[in-house]
Amino acid sequence: MPLSIPTLVTGSAGRIGRAVVAELQRRGHQVRGFDRVPASVPSDHVTGDLTDRAALERAMQGIECLIHLAATPDDVDDVLGQIVPDNIAGLFHVMEAARLAGVKRLVLASSGQVNWGQQMRGEVPVRVTDPPSPKYWYAASKMFLEAIGCGFAETHGISVIVARLGWCPRTLAQVEEIAAAEWAQDVYLSPGDAGRFFACAVEAPPEVRHLVVYAASRPVHRERFDLSETAAWLGYEPEERWPQGIEVIDKAAVTRFGL
Ligand SMILES: NC(=O)c1ccc[n+]([C@@H]2O[C@H](COP(=O)([O-])OP(=O)(O)OC[C@H]3O[C@@H](n4cnc5c(N)ncnc54)[C@H](O)[C@@H]3O)[C@@H](O)[C@H]2O)c1
Repeated sequence: MPLSIPTLVTGSAGRIGRAVVAELQRRGHQVRGFDRVPASVPSDHVTGDLTDRAALERAMQGIECLIHLAATPDDVDDVLGQIVPDNIAGLFHVMEAARLAGVKRLVLASSGQVNWGQQMRGEVPVRVTDPPSPKYWYAASKMFLEAIGCGFAETHGISVIVARLGWCPRTLAQVEEIAAAEWAQDVYLSPGDAGRFFACAVEAPPEVRHLVVYAASRPVHRERFDLSETAAWLGYEPEERWPQGIEVIDKAAVTRFGL
C-alpha cells in the first residue's frame, strides 16, 4: 500500500472516530470523515446517515480503505429503532457502497462483547478462535457484521479486518464504571491506542485478506484478550494502560479519581 492511503472513517465525530482521524492525519494519510453529526475535523467531511446511499456513494469516491465505526455503540431499549437501522441496515449500505466503489480494504468495528459469556466465566484470555458467547442484541449485531465481513472476503476477495474492541469510555459515567471494576480496567482501550490500532490496520500489507483480532490497551491485573494475533498480523502493541488517556475523555475524571 502507498504511504498516504485515502481512508474513509465512518463515525468520525465519535469517541473512537476522533482518535482515529487524529492518528491517521498525524501519519500523513488522506482522511475523509462520514457522520450524521456535522464536523470540521477532518475538513473533508460528508454529513449523512448510514442509510443515505447517495451520501455514502459520494463519501466512497477515491477511497482505498474504509474504517467503519458508525453504529449504535451499545445495547439500548429501542433495538428496532436504533440497532437495526444503524448496525444492520446501515452496515448493508456501507458495505455495498464500498464494494461498488472498489474500496480495497474494510476495517470493521466489532466488540469484545461478542465473547461476553466466556469473559464473565473467567475463561480468559479470550482468543479469536474461541466460540462466541454474545452478550445481547448489540453483540449479536456485531456478530452479523463479522459474518458479512467474512462473506465479503470470501465472495469478493476484498481485504477485511474485523476489530473486536475493548472499552473506550464515552462519558464520565463510563469512566466511573471502569474505575470501579478490575475486569473493566483490563479491557480498557485508550483513545491513543485506538488510534494506533486502526492506523496499523490501514497500513497492514495487502496480503492480509481476512482477519479477526482483539484490540485493547495493556491489562492492569490480568490478560483478558489475547493480542498475539494482533501483534503478529498488524504489528500493533498497546502503549498505554488504564487510566492513561482518560484526560482525553473527560478532564474532570483525572482530578475526580485522583488518577
Ligand atoms: N467505545 C467502546 O468502548 C467500543 C467498544 C467496542 C466496540 N465499539 C464500536 O466502535 C464504534 C465506535 O464507537 P464509539 O464509542 O466511538 O461510539 P460513538 O457513539 O462515540 O461514535 C459513533 C459515531 O457514529 C455516528 N453514527 C451513529 N449512527 C449513525 C448513522 N446511522 N449514520 C451516521 N452516523 C452515525 C454517531 O453520530 C457518532 O459520531 C462503534 O461501532 C462501536 O460499536 C466501541
